[in-house]
Amino acid sequence: MKKVLIATEKPFSQVAVDEIRIIVEEAGYELALLEKYKSEGELLEAVADADALIVRSDKVTAKVLEAAKNLKIVVRAGAGYDNLDLDACNAKDVVAMNTPGQNANAVAELVFGMMIYGIRKQFSGASGSELRGKSLGIHAYGNVGYYVGKIAEGFGMKVYAYDPYVGSDRMQSHGVEPMNSVEELYRTCEFVSLHIPANDITRDSINKSLLSMMPQGAVLINTARKEVIHETELLELMGEREDFMYLSDIAPSNAAEFQEKFPGRVFFTPKKMGAQTEEANINAGMAAARQIVSYFLTGEETHRVNR
Ligand code: 3PG
Repeated sequence: MKKVLIATEKPFSQVAVDEIRIIVEEAGYELALLEKYKSEGELLEAVADADALIVRSDKVTAKVLEAAKNLKIVVRAGAGYDNLDLDACNAKDVVAMNTPGQNANAVAELVFGMMIYGIRKQFSGASGSELRGKSLGIHAYGNVGYYVGKIAEGFGMKVYAYDPYVGSDRMQSHGVEPMNSVEELYRTCEFVSLHIPANDITRDSINKSLLSMMPQGAVLINTARKEVIHETELLELMGEREDFMYLSDIAPSNAAEFQEKFPGRVFFTPKKMGAQTEEANINAGMAAARQIVSYFLTGEETHRVNR
């Protein structure tokens, strides 16, 4: 009998696990669960006899793949797959997939939660400001970017986006104004919400020269990855610009320094929680389980991210 392992340091909701179990068991496979593990050792032990693996941001390294002798497929239940070592997957003939779009609305809603929290002075009771009429720049117009734009419309914001991989027609048909360059986006927008993946091109790309272009009262919202931020340059910029606010769902490496130097101008969630809703867990978890079953039954490879 095939064994599907869910290995999640940050667990899915119980209802999501129950739904995954139904899909896996109906296909005649066994479901195993490793949650809130504290060491890589626990993961190495759990993957030893797994045929399929479902993870979230859990690191699937060459070592993990080496330990997973029976593994044929790993599905990252979520969008960003920078936690999967794709070269190692290729070397071991393991199919790697993600579940794009399934948790996008959850992340987009958190963007607004954080923006309001930030500009309402962290609910301290002090006088803040409003979103209505403000300019919002969506940096990368994928699934999350799309939902951010839709919600922003309800808030009465002016919405702009930059994404070299998405046609301007698509943005325009959603009422979003396409920008020709990343610089134009940052120059135009008081709020910029990041939705770029972490990779060799984007790493440290959100730097001082780009951020300094933002207008007075700038707010940068990061629900993407901390690696895309040039943290030392952001620290420097915030030291020079008292109007600049940074709200992030992923605390920077030097979070304490940011918090100490810029109280009221930074906010970091204690643990990445953009996709941490029951709905997103169910959607992404069920999609992952279905993709595994389809792959085993028919060889279906939609959403494969390695070759
Ligand atoms: C994603 O890439 O899908 C999000 O960052 C969510 O990640 P998580 O599953 O670790 O919450």
